[in-house]
Amino acid sequence: MYSSLVSMAADSFWSMKKDLHRYVDDVVDVRRVGDESAVVTAEHSTAADLADIAASEPLPFLRHVTEVIAEYDPVEEGFDSVADRVARFLRDETDQTAVSLQTWLDGKVPYRFNRHEEWGSARDLLSDRGFDVSRVGAEWVVSICHTPDTVVVGLNRAEDSLSTWPGGQVRLARTPDQVSRAEFKLEELLQYVSLQASPGSLALDYGAAPGGWSRILAERGFEVTAVDPGDLDERVLDLPLVRHERTTAGNFLRDAKDRFDLIVNDMKMSPARSSRLMLDSRKVLKPSGRCVVTLKTGNRHVLPQLQESFGILRKGFTVEFARQLRHNRNEITVVLRNKG
Ligand SMILES: C[S@@+](CC[C@H](N)C(=O)[O-])C[C@H]1O[C@@H](n2cnc3c(N)ncnc32)[C@H](O)[C@@H]1O
Repeated sequence: MYSSLVSMAADSFWSMKKDLHRYVDDVVDVRRVGDESAVVTAEHSTAADLADIAASEPLPFLRHVTEVIAEYDPVEEGFDSVADRVARFLRDETDQTAVSLQTWLDGKVPYRFNRHEEWGSARDLLSDRGFDVSRVGAEWVVSICHTPDTVVVGLNRAEDSLSTWPGGQVRLARTPDQVSRAEFKLEELLQYVSLQASPGSLALDYGAAPGGWSRILAERGFEVTAVDPGDLDERVLDLPLVRHERTTAGNFLRDAKDRFDLIVNDMKMSPARSSRLMLDSRKVLKPSGRCVVTLKTGNRHVLPQLQESFGILRKGFTVEFARQLRHNRNEITVVLRNKG
């Protein structure tokens, strides 16, 4: 039996659990351990196997996975009670001494310590055992997840963990030139997927106002057509690479002449309608062009909505990435490649 610690959005536990049972045939138990974490027991699927499946749809709710190597009671014990065991596991897996250590606190309950203090004391215990401990960058990662009732310790290769952030909890700071909170969603996606522009690359931004995504794409060198009946922030309007089309996506598409390298869509619209629009938009997408779309499912009937949407999208696209990002609220971010 293998146990994996997984993290997800608090509202998505049930969808994630259903997906796991549907797509991973040897899962025998999914035990919620905190608001945003659960332990998955499977007969032979490891954390790396789960990451493999989740690397694209159909497990978009998983944000982070790691193999469970220890669990202890936060009231009775501390990391010192498992440090020898963790060191033994590490020595069995690798002859390197470099290891990353990540700690996170699940949920919003007040803890009597913060994650930095917790990190410092676990770091000292691993250093005493001969390891060279960093926060990020080593091939192997020790993860410590605190929940009110239990502490779960994981060990995984960074590349098999879906995210290099502790528990997939990506933290991004607001910048002075940011014009919308929606920017965080695209910034977070860019941690996982690269969207490269070459000179003259064209991007189309459906539902662009107030212009956060357009701003980020222009910053990366795309010439952006920003489509929205609403107003763009003046700072975005002033950018030489951004042109505002004050209309709806449907109207724009009817008369569009350009062929785009990238189409992004952050409109508040049902997932099925949004997906149909993306399919129609292939006529203005270059043969190997890509799309980024946020499917806004709300929190009811999420799985049937996603199933319908992916069914529509697959008629014209390959799904390259699908994840409920930390900065998504009741939505899934999907990256698509035109089938050409
Ligand atoms: C969540 S906001 C987009 C935020 C934007 N991504 C940013 O970073 O600033 C959604 C936008 O979609 C626009 N919208 C909704 N339906 C639309 C349609 N049919 N065509 C074009 N824009 C639409 C709304 O006017 C709204 O400005």
